[in-house]
Amino acid sequence: MASKKLSKSDAPKNPNNNEKRLNENDFIISKTDTKGKIIYCNEIFTKMAGYSPSDLIGSNHNVIRHPDMPKFAFKHLWNVIKEKKEFFGFVKNLCADGGYYWVYAYITPDIDPSSGQIISYTSVRRKAPQSAIDQIAPIYQQMLNAERSGGVEASGRLLTNLLEEHKLSYDEFVINLQKGAKL
Ligand SMILES: Cc1cc2nc3c(=O)[nH]c(=O)nc-3n(C[C@H](O)[C@H](O)[C@H](O)COP(=O)(O)O)c2cc1C
Repeated sequence: MASKKLSKSDAPKNPNNNEKRLNENDFIISKTDTKGKIIYCNEIFTKMAGYSPSDLIGSNHNVIRHPDMPKFAFKHLWNVIKEKKEFFGFVKNLCADGGYYWVYAYITPDIDPSSGQIISYTSVRRKAPQSAIDQIAPIYQQMLNAERSGGVEASGRLLTNLLEEHKLSYDEFVINLQKGAKL
């Protein structure tokens, strides 16, 4: 019998503070269809997330969405990749046991050469430095708070204002953090 396919409504309801850490040389890889349904994942993905490959393949990628992540982060992600551009960003993910892990994610669209259409997306993630997590986590918290009162537009404005204040593009900001820079 085919196993039930998962989405965020199947994710654990009570996240806890158990952090899993990626090793320095680990890469978490997944591929999705154009809607965000997982069509491939590597073994490190299954180990970190705590699901079996058969649970993950065919499931929505949002099964590992952590409630500490602001909506705007994913709105931006999809806006970028649908434009056939590369996305970089820090993501806190939810494990099957309620724990979490941080990653530095890179997502790229896979383009069919004959039609020029997006056929899938590939994401490669590596360990995020602690200095980056220490800086991005409170920003995501502020964005979440902004979303509670003003919706996703308010958190987008908050991020835009912060980037303008520091005279950085989003990509410069994220790449600097990954290199260990302080804001
Ligand atoms: C290739 C690819 C990889 C993704 N990886 C993640 C991920 O690791 N964690 C995550 O929460 N969302 C990831 N997403 C975004 C999800 O598709 C989804 O937008 C997000 O979990 C928010 O879900 P929601 O809008 O249903 O709340 C990825 C999307 C793509 C296309």
